[in-house]
Amino acid sequence: MSTSKSTPSIATPAEGPGLTLYGGNGTGRRVTVRDLARAKKAGESWPMLTAYDAMIASVFDEAGIPVLLVGDSAGNNHLGYDSTVPVTMDQLVMLTSAVVRGTQRALIVSDMPFGSYQESPEQALRNAARFLKEAGAGAVKLEGGKRSAAQVETLVAAGIPVMAHLGLTPQSVHAFGGYRVQGRDDESAEQLITDAKTMQSAGAFAVVLECVPEELAARVTELLDIPTIGIGAGARCDAQVLVWTDMAGMTTGHTPKFVKQYVDLRAALGNAAKEFAADVVGGAYPAPEHAFH
Ligand code: KIV
Repeated sequence: MSTSKSTPSIATPAEGPGLTLYGGNGTGRRVTVRDLARAKKAGESWPMLTAYDAMIASVFDEAGIPVLLVGDSAGNNHLGYDSTVPVTMDQLVMLTSAVVRGTQRALIVSDMPFGSYQESPEQALRNAARFLKEAGAGAVKLEGGKRSAAQVETLVAAGIPVMAHLGLTPQSVHAFGGYRVQGRDDESAEQLITDAKTMQSAGAFAVVLECVPEELAARVTELLDIPTIGIGAGARCDAQVLVWTDMAGMTTGHTPKFVKQYVDLRAALGNAAKEFAADVVGGAYPAPEHAFH
């Protein structure tokens, strides 16, 4: 059993791309939504990853990822469901607390799960407040444009920073009839632009654009003063987000076209487990140096 909290083996952010937001904000405090607004003005791109537990979050924090999302994608990627729909507030509050405990610099954004905000602005406020009070998050994310505007206004008025999510919003997978690229025709593209503007006017500090054509994402990015964060939305958003298990090769089954896999962690871990098993079966582990006398 390891007792150390973290291993300082990851390249320090100073060794990475020399931008101010990548690697934190250079102040030793957590990244805030004001840092993200400054990055938009400065034309600085930044990365965001999901995280669902303290140890993985600490790796990304040490690597300098400035924003970590405790996404309801925990449903498919951490909790064993086949969509985000069953994920509950209690589950995400617990995962967010772990991610907050594992990090020092990143802004931690909690996803509001399906059914936790659609009912009314009051319901949204009651649940969003739990993420800040019980788990220590710095912001929340919710899906939807115009239909969620009253919720965003109420949360922002209460001092809760809100990230909006447009395009392919996975909580509506049943209404969409599957995971499909959104905003392909003129009407839905115009609707997405209107929704993005509505979210900005309601006070959102950023907008995730999921699975929309690059040209549409670029247009929204130009039109908005707040940062756009793309996932399957091409290269012209202000920031990019990936689900960590996708980018690390942990996910099985279909890999979306937009995913870039940076490491095959599934194979590496599987091989490590097989080697351990072979050592135990063959008597090579534990060796004399692993024993107490
Ligand atoms: O839950 C999640 O991981 C997300 C990202 C895909 C943006 O919403």
